[in-house]
Amino acid sequence: MTSRTWLALKRVASVSVLGIVFWNSPFLLQQFHIHTGPRDKPLSILIWDLPFNHNLNLSSNSCPTRRHKESCLLTSNRSWLDQADVVAFHHRELQHSTSNLPTAQKIPGQNWVWVSLESPTNTKDLAAWNGTFNWVMTYRQDSDIFIPYGTLVPRSSDKVDIPKKSRLVCWVISNYHRTQKRAEVYRELSRHIKIDVYGKASKKPLCPACLLPTISQYKFYLAFENSIHRDYITEKLWRNALLAGTVPIVMGPPRANYEQFIPGDAFIHVEDFSSRQELATFLLTMNDSHYQSFFNWRQRYTVKLYDNWQERFCTICEKYPSLPGRKVYPSLEDWFWN
Ligand SMILES: *[C@@H]1O[C@H](CO)[C@@H](O)[C@H](O)[C@H]1NC(C)=O
Ligand SMILES: *[C@@H]1O[C@H](CO)[C@@H](O)[C@H](O)[C@H]1NC(C)=O
Ligand SMILES: *[C@@H]1O[C@H](CO)[C@@H](O)[C@H](O)[C@H]1NC(C)=O
Ligand SMILES: *[C@@H]1O[C@H](CO)[C@@H](O)[C@H](O)[C@H]1NC(C)=O
Repeated sequence: MTSRTWLALKRVASVSVLGIVFWNSPFLLQQFHIHTGPRDKPLSILIWDLPFNHNLNLSSNSCPTRRHKESCLLTSNRSWLDQADVVAFHHRELQHSTSNLPTAQKIPGQNWVWVSLESPTNTKDLAAWNGTFNWVMTYRQDSDIFIPYGTLVPRSSDKVDIPKKSRLVCWVISNYHRTQKRAEVYRELSRHIKIDVYGKASKKPLCPACLLPTISQYKFYLAFENSIHRDYITEKLWRNALLAGTVPIVMGPPRANYEQFIPGDAFIHVEDFSSRQELATFLLTMNDSHYQSFFNWRQRYTVKLYDNWQERFCTICEKYPSLPGRKVYPSLEDWFWN
């Protein structure tokens, strides 16, 4: 379809929505809502609960640096429920809230977004929300609004600075549970190679500003996820390892999944080895030129963290024009566990 035909169709759609034919038909209003012509008011996103009570900068132009065509307003003022285009619900607070969602007050054409960055293993009470949400905003690539923990952005540079290395392997861990797979792999590996452990769960807590400088002295970092799920690749990889300038040893989804996010020669996967001892030997005997090769990708890319809720919610504004107009998740639990 040419863009001119598309424009013409859009115009027809807008006129029809305003006209008699579809008047009073919430379904059609909802369907056309997203594709209608220029808006007379900014797109408005109501954030039902501020995630973890973080303060956001909710001014009249909350997403100014974004490239979306129309202005976009983020608000946490619940009086906007009867006019917001989108209402975003962060799961952590839903999970803890006993109050019901204002389903009865949902206006036609309004879309509700389920927001979470946790893995299914750490997500409770999903079954309560069957049929409630229109869109999902998560770390999963197949989300309506995809919010990864980080990404690589292209650059070109002849020079790659590798922080000076004086130590071998470290791990930062705040929630240690003996039975988790990451704890098991750590214990097995530490029989063959010395691993320095930092963080709340250890005797060596790190101040936030000490985190990256400490890790950067190490050649390798254990970027072990707390649970294993497709696309669940968190700040343990993006910030602790890649941003710090060390080589990640990852434990999480399979290698092929990681390679959808970062080059295959940027990391070591625990499953690349048939035993922990073999992995330890690989680390202990690696020569310098081999080690340097794990940094080659840095000539082409640089790390961008997405660790800011404001920015994440602004992604809704950016994606809005292309999001499906009549969608509902009959079972969030089925979607999330598949
Ligand atoms: C909040 O956003 C407005 C509009 O973009 C900007 O002028 C202001 O400096 C921001 N305030 C803070 C504290 O970031
Ligand atoms: C919330 O929005 C309503 C309606 O726009 C407005 O009257 C009210 O003053 C706002 N409340 C706050 C705390 O900003
Ligand atoms: C929600 O859907 C799931 C899967 O279809 C089903 O097992 C569950 O009973 C439903 N929950 C409620 C509260 O309806
Ligand atoms: C370094 O190790 C790699 C991989 O094992 C090997 O191919 C290469 O020949 C070694 N280089 C030197 C200089 O020993």
